[in-house]
Amino acid sequence: MIRVTIDGVVQETTSGERLIDVINRAGVKISQVCYHPQLGPIQTCDTCMVETNGQLVRACATTASAGMEIFTKSEKAAAAQREAFDRILSNHVLYCTVCDNNNGNCTIHNTERLLGIEHQPIPYHSKPYEEDHTNPFYRYDPQQCILCGRCVEACQNVQVNETLSINWEDPHPRVLWDGGSTIGESSCVSCGHCVTVCPCNALMEKSMLGHAGFLTALPKTTLGGMIDVVKGVEPETGYGAILKLSEAESHMRELRIRRTKTVCTYCGVGCSFDVWTKDRHILKVEPLDGPTNGISTCIKGKFGWDFVNSPDRLTKPLIREGGKFREASWDEALDLVARKFREIKAKNGPDSLAFVSSSKCTNEESYLMQKLARAVIGTNNMDNCSRYCQAPATQGLFRTVGYGGDSGSIRDIENAGLVLIIGSNTAESHPVLATRVKRAHKLHGQKLIVSDLREHEMAKRADLFLHPKPGTDIVWLSAVSRYLLENGMANTKFLDQWVNGLEEYKKSLAPFTMEFAARTCGLSEDTLKKVAHMIAEAGGVCVLWAMGITQHSMGSDASTAISNLLLITGNYMKTGSGAYPLRGHNNVQGASDHGAMPNFLTGYQSVDDPEVRSRFKAAWNVQLPSTKGLDNHEMIDAIHQGKLKAMYLFGEEMSLVDSNANFVSDGLSKLDFFVVQDIFFSATCRFADVVLPASPSLEKEGTFTSTERRIQRLYQVFEPLEGSRPDWRIIQDIANRLGATWQYQHPSEIYREIASLTPLFAGVTYERLEGFKSLQWPVAADGTDQPLLYTKEFAFPDGKARLFPLSLTEPTDQPNAEFDLHLNNGRLLEHFHEGNMTYRSEGIREKTPDTFVEVSPELAEERGIQSGTWVQLTSRYGQLRVRALVTDRVQGKELYMPMNSVESPVNRLTSSHTDSVTHTPAYKEASVHLRVLPEVGESPLPRINHRFGHPTPQHGVEVERKWKRPDYRMPGNGLVQIQTN
Ligand code: SF4
Ligand code: SF4
Ligand code: SF4
Ligand code: FES
Repeated sequence: MIRVTIDGVVQETTSGERLIDVINRAGVKISQVCYHPQLGPIQTCDTCMVETNGQLVRACATTASAGMEIFTKSEKAAAAQREAFDRILSNHVLYCTVCDNNNGNCTIHNTERLLGIEHQPIPYHSKPYEEDHTNPFYRYDPQQCILCGRCVEACQNVQVNETLSINWEDPHPRVLWDGGSTIGESSCVSCGHCVTVCPCNALMEKSMLGHAGFLTALPKTTLGGMIDVVKGVEPETGYGAILKLSEAESHMRELRIRRTKTVCTYCGVGCSFDVWTKDRHILKVEPLDGPTNGISTCIKGKFGWDFVNSPDRLTKPLIREGGKFREASWDEALDLVARKFREIKAKNGPDSLAFVSSSKCTNEESYLMQKLARAVIGTNNMDNCSRYCQAPATQGLFRTVGYGGDSGSIRDIENAGLVLIIGSNTAESHPVLATRVKRAHKLHGQKLIVSDLREHEMAKRADLFLHPKPGTDIVWLSAVSRYLLENGMANTKFLDQWVNGLEEYKKSLAPFTMEFAARTCGLSEDTLKKVAHMIAEAGGVCVLWAMGITQHSMGSDASTAISNLLLITGNYMKTGSGAYPLRGHNNVQGASDHGAMPNFLTGYQSVDDPEVRSRFKAAWNVQLPSTKGLDNHEMIDAIHQGKLKAMYLFGEEMSLVDSNANFVSDGLSKLDFFVVQDIFFSATCRFADVVLPASPSLEKEGTFTSTERRIQRLYQVFEPLEGSRPDWRIIQDIANRLGATWQYQHPSEIYREIASLTPLFAGVTYERLEGFKSLQWPVAADGTDQPLLYTKEFAFPDGKARLFPLSLTEPTDQPNAEFDLHLNNGRLLEHFHEGNMTYRSEGIREKTPDTFVEVSPELAEERGIQSGTWVQLTSRYGQLRVRALVTDRVQGKELYMPMNSVESPVNRLTSSHTDSVTHTPAYKEASVHLRVLPEVGESPLPRINHRFGHPTPQHGVEVERKWKRPDYRMPGNGLVQIQTN
């Protein structure tokens, strides 16, 4: 700690803290137009000038040192701040009363007021550019752009999409997309970072325009006239009076604009933000304080919410009658569900019913679903869609370190010396998490190795890209482990102190020589040795993996191999290291955590543990089944075998997302009674007997748990759409019709019960999760959580981790002469899974209207395929038609299909083979035959898709180029410029 004085008042700070942060913490008001704490100093605006040691310095770019005397209001400082702001105003017309950004948080408006500026000494000069409206979600108005560069910094160094720059050398600088393209045709991924950080109205969400203000929907000509009137009176009245008027209008807006915190309903990163609404209109999503994401979002979280108000929403329960659905009242539908469940249970026993929970819904809802299954029906036939993706990763961690969750936080990934990404298209599947890796790699020297079949964005950025043969990851991972152990590069101290099973593990590595791995995986020995050396030399390694590892017949073993590798190199128990299976859905971690599993009650308490059961029995006052139930995969088999008669599923599109979709659909159609609860009439609803209309996340309260085990609260933004109900209420209504006496009035009461029964969540309370507060499990009764797991010991009785020996397994469904191409599949940035939500966003549809199959240039040439050619793909299990997209993201005889399609779901082609331990389908092991069809259509991706853009990477806003302009001088007249970092 050191001491400085600010305007004569002593402040404690740490050496090296930015002056602007010290000043802000002290509550001293000072202008700072371009500064945003999450972006760091940009130094473009000069409005933060302060005086120290008789010199003017930028407070944002100067760091504190002991004894420093800082004057924010000295004559020199005040004059410099004012001069700097005058220059900014010359780029901006103040028409606040009729501006959609007049919401109390406009930096220009507030700085104007802070500095008490009455007149504009440097007149506004217009720029020779038009507004750009070519992006579906936001527009840029160069006339209002103050060239602060926040957007450029955010795009270049936070999102690291590297689309934006400013042409500082131009007579009329402006923000450029891809160096001068329209926004629509640029590489912009519509993540919204730039719009979020813009301090004024130059970049704005289109959903705000004409909607936020009372007068802003007026026609442009009328608005123009009003703006001219304001400008006309300004010389006489000064800005003070004009600002008062606009502030009155801004206060009036507070009465009708609501800002409600929520957590993203798409991927497992766990971004949280405020949603601004006016009635049921979403004005904008504003990320700022989220513990995971700060100012970050991706296209889905920022702009993908149209589905909530879609006219397709279900608002009436439906009952199948005579092969058709008819509308029914809630009472009739719920009575029917209860009666049928009761009858089927009486006739066939409780295990003839099965329950599938939603990884999109809340923890409380998963808890109630499994309570309904276990306590009311009496079966453990309970699962969730982690079976389709993440169960093998959990298994790998259970085997080796004890907890089935990420071993640290996204902050640890940022701090790692080396990030190894295996089988994860992180930039598209977990976009905001990927930004942290891209930033650390670009700015902080982090090393990056990517292993994948496709050369996607992260692969292109990597220091080393591996393309192993499909399904061989376990081989190269084990060979690298063996090489490290044999060449003295393992962390023996860590192994001695913290790890069991080394000798047996070493023996299991016997087959995995470098030579064998190189041959099996199609990688060179040198490459594999380089991987080993990079791991050994890195100061902390984080391994990120996803469905490219888990969705294989050896998914659990490959996940185990990753954890083994981390153990032998000592990459647990310290920040910047560890295992990070990237959870797919927003609450797939939480659904499993909260008991939606066939073998676990909440917090991974085993159903066959008598002590656990007796605790739950006492709390619920019922008998509980003690043997493991059916998982999703087994449920479908059990239907085909005639053992399973009824199913209740909510918020899952099982008929499309389970593998071997034809087999699954066939099974669902054989059920005696099937209840589907969803917000839309999904493809799975086609097989239902009763469809119940549910409410999405914006219409209810509860909690989600993200990939980093972070539990966060979501608040209700809208009332449930008339006719729909939150899932927890529906489940409770069904339970009570079956004889339960549940009385939950609010999800917080459900969580209180969960916490009382679950040591892992003992200290989780809604109060501790208020607003943007969060907890990362395990949470002790006193509320202490664990952002980093295993700080004191591993989660086994002796506190030691376990190396788990592995043997070699061949992938299934290999190519042969007939099915000669390997088919890979996965996510796209813009769409989520089958697309039930994202295809209902007009803007996303415009950018990415349909699915496609990626074909390599080599294969395209060989078969005479071009982008837009229709092809028929046939596997051993099904067939579909799809348009080709020729791209070098894939190589040779490997194809890739995004999973986003209701019409041509890739799972018509995948098999029923599974990981032997967890029954996760081997989605990534598929072989197909490709037939070129005569039709050639348009390219499935339009030219306005970001994949056709040309980014312009640079080091942030490059303010030095501005300082070199002949018309630039440091504010403060005649003073020497001091440049500090
Ligand atoms: S990618 Fe597009 S939306 Fe995202 S920060 Fe860059 S320009 Fe803005
Ligand atoms: S568009 Fe960019 S440079 Fe212009 S005012 Fe907004 S953030 Fe600043
Ligand atoms: S990264 Fe994931 S959680 Fe974040 S905004 Fe995008 S979809 Fe939502
Ligand atoms: S806030 Fe320091 S230069 Fe803009």
